Amino acid sequence: LFDELEFSNLQLDQHGPLAVLTINRPKALNALNTDTLAEIGQAVDLIAENADISALILTGAGEKAFVAGADISELSEMNNVYSGRELSLGGQEVMQSLSNLPLPTIACIQGFALGGGLELALACDIRVASPHARLGLPEAGLGVIPGFGGTQRLPRLIGSGRALDLLLTGRQVGAEEALAMGLVNYVSDEPLSKAREVAEQMMRNAPISLALIKEAVRRGAHLSVEEGMEIEADLFGMAVATSDFAEGTRAFLDKRRPEFKGE
Ligand code: CAA
Repeated sequence: LFDELEFSNLQLDQHGPLAVLTINRPKALNALNTDTLAEIGQAVDLIAENADISALILTGAGEKAFVAGADISELSEMNNVYSGRELSLGGQEVMQSLSNLPLPTIACIQGFALGGGLELALACDIRVASPHARLGLPEAGLGVIPGFGGTQRLPRLIGSGRALDLLLTGRQVGAEEALAMGLVNYVSDEPLSKAREVAEQMMRNAPISLALIKEAVRRGAHLSVEEGMEIEADLFGMAVATSDFAEGTRAFLDKRRPEFKGE
């Protein structure tokens, strides 16, 4: 379905209902220049429009890096408030469109996930890392700050204290430390196989439930518990009105596997 697409710095493959998006600029450790960011945005839009896709794995080409950040040669040409703000807004928009996808998204991190690369991984629902993965937000050491959502997503994921440690030191953490702080969900010698296994587990569930769960978590993140509960009840109501809910509960009572249709 993605055959006719020609990306310069990405590869988008489809394995049945699973899409695999590979950032492919290995010579620059898959750094995100504006062209690559724009292509990620286009790929995310295509995935959103493609009803046959039920989950997405995002990864980087080569063993050495997932993504080593925003492209520093491009960044170095920024010299005023306006160009910097535009670059940040553009990257944030792409990360938001990824984060808002109604289907599960998994970052598969082999090697470095630094700066904008970690921010890309943070825009996914969960993260799987290889044992040699290195994660960090080194922006302060370049005289800049994370601009693709890192100052907002990292503290929400791991708490302000741990996030401020990583942001203010700029230090890299290895896979085991990242796992211990909840920055990654799984560490595996075969991260892509692990990511596929987790995607398959998610795809066995009702797709509308997955979309509603993502919406409940996303919208609740900045609300009071009471406001979040109201959203949960509304979305719960929507789930109960689907035919997949009727199928899921009937299958349980019939002691068989449900066949969900996304309706
Ligand atoms: N941008 C552009 N090019 C990059 C890059 C980046 N973020 N990261 C690596 N590269 C390039 C290097 O310049 C080098 O190119 P050449 O072969 O042409 O010299 C090539 O990729 C290989 O990298 P190294 O030789 O540096 O490899 P290494 O093994 O010695 O080091 C590394 C690996 C520790 C990841 C190191 O490359 C590095 O520190 N990269 C930059 C990481 C970083 O600071 N990222 C944050 C960017 S700022 C940001 O992301 C802002 C934001 O939030 C929007």
